[in-house]
Amino acid sequence: MLSNKDFFNNIVMSMVEMLIVIHPDGKIRMANQSACNRLGYKEEELIGRHISMLCGEEEGEFSMEEINAIAFQGGRNVERKYKAKDGAILPVSCSCSVMFDGLQSITGMTFVAQDISERKQMEEKLLEYKNKLQDLVEIRTKELFDTTIRLKMEIAERRQAEEKYRDLFENAVDPIFIVGADMKYKDVNKRAIELFGYTKEEFLDMGIFDVIPPEQVPRSESEVEKLKKQGAYEKFIGKMRKKDGSYIDIEVSSSAIIENGTVVGSRDIVRDITERKQAEHKERMAELGAVAAKIAHDLRNPLVSIGGFAKRLKTKLSGPMEEQAGIILKETRRLESNLREILGFVREGNLQKKELDICSILEEIALLYQDELSERKIELTKKLEDPLMVRADSYHLKEALINVLTNAMQAVGADGRIGLVAGRNGVQVEIILSDSGPGINEKDLQQIFKPFFTTKVFGSGLGLTITRKIIQEHGGTIEAQTKLNSGTAFTIRLPAAT
Ligand SMILES: Nc1ncnc2c1ncn2[C@@H]1O[C@H](COP(=O)(O)OP(=O)(O)O)[C@@H](O)[C@H]1O
Ligand SMILES: [Mg+2]
Repeated sequence: MLSNKDFFNNIVMSMVEMLIVIHPDGKIRMANQSACNRLGYKEEELIGRHISMLCGEEEGEFSMEEINAIAFQGGRNVERKYKAKDGAILPVSCSCSVMFDGLQSITGMTFVAQDISERKQMEEKLLEYKNKLQDLVEIRTKELFDTTIRLKMEIAERRQAEEKYRDLFENAVDPIFIVGADMKYKDVNKRAIELFGYTKEEFLDMGIFDVIPPEQVPRSESEVEKLKKQGAYEKFIGKMRKKDGSYIDIEVSSSAIIENGTVVGSRDIVRDITERKQAEHKERMAELGAVAAKIAHDLRNPLVSIGGFAKRLKTKLSGPMEEQAGIILKETRRLESNLREILGFVREGNLQKKELDICSILEEIALLYQDELSERKIELTKKLEDPLMVRADSYHLKEALINVLTNAMQAVGADGRIGLVAGRNGVQVEIILSDSGPGINEKDLQQIFKPFFTTKVFGSGLGLTITRKIIQEHGGTIEAQTKLNSGTAFTIRLPAAT
C-alpha cells in the first residue's frame, strides 16, 4: 500500500502535462517527469532555480507581482512560452494556481502546462494556408479580371473584323456567292443581286445548277471536284442565267471553305466578262475585217473587169453564148454584192452623219437598179413624199436600203412587183419596201436578222443583219410584215431631222 505522499507523487510523475511548483519567491520547488523531459532538464537542475529561467525571452522576468497578478486573477489556459535547456521555445497552454497555508499566506504556486507546439504549428500552417488561399484568390480574381477584359477586347476586335469582312463582301465590285456543300447558295452580296436581278431570298432558294445552262453542268461538276481536292480553282469561264432569262458570260474564281479539315462550301467570286468578251469579239471582227478588206480589195478589181468584159461580150454574142455571158455578168454582180455585205458586216468605225433628203437616196438606188429591174421585168412603183430630211451617213444608209431591195428582187423573181413608199409619220420618217414574193414562214421570220441566216444557196445571210445594225446606228427600227404567197413588206423608221 502506497503512502499518501507516494500515491500523489505517482500521479504527479505520470501526468502528461508539465507540472512545475514554485516557492513564493519564484524558485522552483518541484518539476514532474513530463516537465523535465520536455524542457530537457534533470529535476535537480531545476530545483531551487528561479522560474524565470524557463521563460521565453520576450516574456521577460517572471516577477512576483506578475505571479501574484496571475494567481489572483486566476490564470487558466494562458498561452505562454517555455524555454527548454537547448534554447528551443515551447509554446504551452498554462494554468496556474496559488497554494495557501492555513493562515491564508501564499506557500507557493503550481503551473500545469500543456505542450501546444503541434497545435501552434497547425495554427500557423492554417494561417499560412489561409494566406496562401487569399493570395491565390487574389491572383485568380486578377486573372479572371484580365481574362474578362481580354475577352471583351477580343469580341470587339472580332466584331470589327466581321464588320470589315461584311463590308468587303457587301460592297465588292464583283458578285460574291457563298455556296454550301450541297451547291446551294448560302449568301450573296449586293452586286450579285444587282447584276442577276434575283432577290436575296430567291438566290437562297437556288443553287449553282439552277442558273447555269445544261451543257455547262458536267464541266461545273468536275470543277467542284477539283475544288474539293485542291481547295481552290481559278478562272472558270462559263455562262450564268439572269432572272430575265438571258445568259451572261462569267469568269469564276473559287476558294474552298474548310471546317475541321473538310470542305463545307466555297466562296465564288464571279466576274461579269460580257464586255471583255464583246471586246474580244470586236477585236476578232476587226482582224477579220482587215482580212476581208484585203480580200475584197484583191477581188473587186478583177471582178469589175470580168463583169465589164461579160457585158461587152454579151452585146457581141448571140444564142447560147450570149446567154452564158449573161450568166457570167449576173454571177459577178452577185459576188460583188456578197463582197459588199461581208465588208459591211466587219465594218469598224463611226458613221459620218449629215442632214440629207432620203428621197434622193431612194431615187439614186432606183436609178442604180433600173437596168436590172427592167431586164428581169420587175415593176417598181414609187410613192415618195419629198423632201424627207434625216441625219444620216448616206453611204451606209444606201447600203442598208440596197440590202432590202436586193432581197425583194431575189424574192419576186421575174414579173414581180416591188413598191417603194416613203413619208412622214409624226416625228419619224417611214420607208416601206414591199414585194409580191412568196413571203416568209413564221419560223424563218424569227431568224432573218440573225447573222449568217439564209435560205438561199449562195446567200451570205448577212444582208439584213447589216441593215438592222445600220438602221439602229441611226436611231431607227426595221421590221417585216409578211404573208405567205402574197409578199413581204419591210418598214424602216428613222428619226426625222426637222
Ligand atoms: N423580201 C423577202 N422575201 C422573202 N424572204 C426574205 C426577204 N428578205 C429576206 N428574206 C429571208 O431572209 C433571209 C436573210 O436575208 P439576208 O440577211 O439578206 O441574207 P441573204 O439574202 O444572203 O440570204 C433570206 O435568206 C430569206 O430567207
Ligand atoms: Mg440578202
